[in-house]
Amino acid sequence: MKHWPENFREDFAAKRLRSDNAMARLFALSDLHVSHAANRALLEGITPHTDDWLILGGDLGETPDHLRWVLDQMAPKFSRLLWVPGNHELWSMGEGAPRGQAKYELMVSICSERGVLTPEDPYELFPTPTPTSTVIAPLFLLYDYSFRPADVERERAIAWATEDGPMCADETYLYFEPHASRDAWCRARCDDAEARLSALPEDTRTVLVNHFPLRAEHAYLPLLPRFSIWCGTSRTEDWHLRFRARAVVFGHCHMRSTRWRDGVPFEEVSLGYPKQWNQTRTADSFLREIILGPRDREPDGTAIRR
Ligand SMILES: [Fe+2]
Ligand SMILES: [Fe+2]
Repeated sequence: MKHWPENFREDFAAKRLRSDNAMARLFALSDLHVSHAANRALLEGITPHTDDWLILGGDLGETPDHLRWVLDQMAPKFSRLLWVPGNHELWSMGEGAPRGQAKYELMVSICSERGVLTPEDPYELFPTPTPTSTVIAPLFLLYDYSFRPADVERERAIAWATEDGPMCADETYLYFEPHASRDAWCRARCDDAEARLSALPEDTRTVLVNHFPLRAEHAYLPLLPRFSIWCGTSRTEDWHLRFRARAVVFGHCHMRSTRWRDGVPFEEVSLGYPKQWNQTRTADSFLREIILGPRDREPDGTAIRR
């Protein structure tokens, strides 16, 4: 019996559509978790896509060296790299390790040294031949425990989740200083991103990139349903419409899929841990192409209602 939501497309329907990205193609991959040797071995096999852009959607690893390894692998193979942090990049382990905002800034600096775009950079226009201007918006929005049932109060959210599931390791390793809480850090990040996205010209479309899903329906882990509290914020439920998204790219749940909502493809682009990917597949087969073609139809031909 299948438990997927009705709009779940397990077969990456977007790949069947023709791209209009004649000048460059846009690819995405997240949750590389390169602390695992099998993942590193796979990623060494990515072939050059020297005209194309690659979105790295977070959880590349935990340490600065993990991030450097991925960027140095990918930089010669793509014309542009973009990175957003996952929760794993924000972990701090060991005495004296930078924590919270300081860890984030350290990881941003490693990207900036290599010319990799981060949530701290101005949003860049993606070079499409169509008249529509499309910017890629790397976001770092974190989570605020709001992906929970309405009758569970915020104060009880963690107790509720751990009654029937594991405690997320973020509670041990993801520090939030100098913010008052992870919720407060999330709120500050959303305030900033909301202001920047709202300032875009009305006719500019976006590709919204965030490690965490923007909608609660996509924080869907069939075996760990209560893990959703560590997966995003309800504040972003309608951002794909408010900010005119042509696609939304995320990871975190390790549930590779293309799911449609309001005519917008939501691309979950995780690789995941070695047991979660088919080791007979090539590295390139895990790169998800983000299709930016004009859209007035769902892949099955249904007219999009706005
Ligand atoms: Fe992950
Ligand atoms: Fe994650």
